[in-house]
Amino acid sequence: MEPAGQEITVMGWVRSFRSNRFVALNDGSTLGNLQLVVDFSQFDESLIKRIAVGTAIKSVGKLVVSQGAGQKMELQVESLEIFGDCDASVYPLQPKKHSMEFLRQIAHLRFRTNTFSAIFRIRHALAFSIHEFFHKRGFFYLHSPVITGSDAEGAGEMFRVTTLDLKKIPFTEEGEINFKEDFFSKPTNLTVSGQLEAELAALALGQVYTFGPTFRAENSNTPRHLAEFWMIEPEIAFADLNDDMDLAEDLLKYVIRSVLENCKEDLQFLHDREQEEEKQKPQNERNEMSLLDRLKFCVENQFERLSYTDAIEILKNSTPNKKRKFQFPVENWGTDLQSEHERYLVEKHFKKPVILINYPKQIKAFYMRQNEDDKTVAAMDILFPGIGEIVGGSQREERLDKLETRMQEMHIPVEEMSWYLDTRRFGTCPHAGFGLGFERLVLFVTGMSNIRDVIPFPRFPGSAEF
Ligand code: 4AD
Ligand code: MG
Repeated sequence: MEPAGQEITVMGWVRSFRSNRFVALNDGSTLGNLQLVVDFSQFDESLIKRIAVGTAIKSVGKLVVSQGAGQKMELQVESLEIFGDCDASVYPLQPKKHSMEFLRQIAHLRFRTNTFSAIFRIRHALAFSIHEFFHKRGFFYLHSPVITGSDAEGAGEMFRVTTLDLKKIPFTEEGEINFKEDFFSKPTNLTVSGQLEAELAALALGQVYTFGPTFRAENSNTPRHLAEFWMIEPEIAFADLNDDMDLAEDLLKYVIRSVLENCKEDLQFLHDREQEEEKQKPQNERNEMSLLDRLKFCVENQFERLSYTDAIEILKNSTPNKKRKFQFPVENWGTDLQSEHERYLVEKHFKKPVILINYPKQIKAFYMRQNEDDKTVAAMDILFPGIGEIVGGSQREERLDKLETRMQEMHIPVEEMSWYLDTRRFGTCPHAGFGLGFERLVLFVTGMSNIRDVIPFPRFPGSAEF
């Protein structure tokens, strides 16, 4: 049916009002506004006066082919109702360009801008296509706990969960905090990862994934870290490191392709926005590729796979290393890679996404499978342009004796983790998994430069507003 001539009802917020006649209305469903044409002679002057940027209104009218340029259709307003006035003299969002820093301070209102509504529609589309990807492949969505009694992964970087009265902390005779009196009768924290629980389920259900909030109390004030972020953690039985890398690469390509298809308008808007910003930057800081090119490039190219050892060689001999341009010079095998090194490999050396494998065991977690060389573990990190690490994963150590020994070496409380070790005692099998940082993915796809701008209400050191 042709839309012209139809009578429709619309509700939304006024984005602009000009010539006392044209209202640009947006209901959040898309970037585009609907133009309402108001014949002001037909309405009370007092009603017309109340229409301002931000006002919530309802209108009934007839869709007609637009006379003006800029839109195909417009609405000839027959009735107009105001739900909520918006006093322009105090409304923080003015019809002009605001800085990202300012908008972060008014995160409760920033959804109403084109940029943030585009970001959060894309965020939704990404989440949806992640579930779709796993569902199509026969994975089961597992809800791992948010409150955890194990401190296996993030020693020292966890948020304590307690109902103890901080003014009257109970102590044992030995002078330790008496967690027996706490809610769970033991110390508990917010989870840093759902992996260990996902492993338990994968060794029965075969293929599972988690998608939930995770928490890290590390004091990383960077554009890539949050204290509360969402992570996707698939875990697959009967799989090795290659299967793990294939799954991660397929997932990333699938969701990026799906957003390229389903969020064209929002992506184009963010692409154009970035092009504008790039013009302000000095030549040497500009992105070599535009947002849409980066996304297509990522979908169309095989990710480069190489070992940590080879990466160290490349970095050692790199120009920035020789010219002492790295903040952390690369000298010895065994040191952890910094974001500057990861980005050099991806952006300068290979110029495409890179998967690094077989890291030194001393810089990786206890559960990673030990390689024959006794020095490295079957770990993999996926590095993305502009982001650095977007995925971290590994094949898991499925051999009970090796796992126990490694846990003892790393001072992991073996007795407390007996539930985890049970999977290795009873029908263990090769298995692997990874964690994809959801906000890092949204950051890459939207081309934004700060992770605080791709989650509705960011939590970071010193800030838990809203
Ligand atoms: O590399 P990470 O720490 O790996 C794990 O937690 C494993 N348990 C995953 C697994 O094998 N199941 O974290 C995984 C990813 C990182 O690659 C990064 O994308 C993201 O989570 N991430 C963060 N994102 C935002 N803010 C932070 N503070 C993050 N820390 C990690
Ligand atoms: Mg990692």
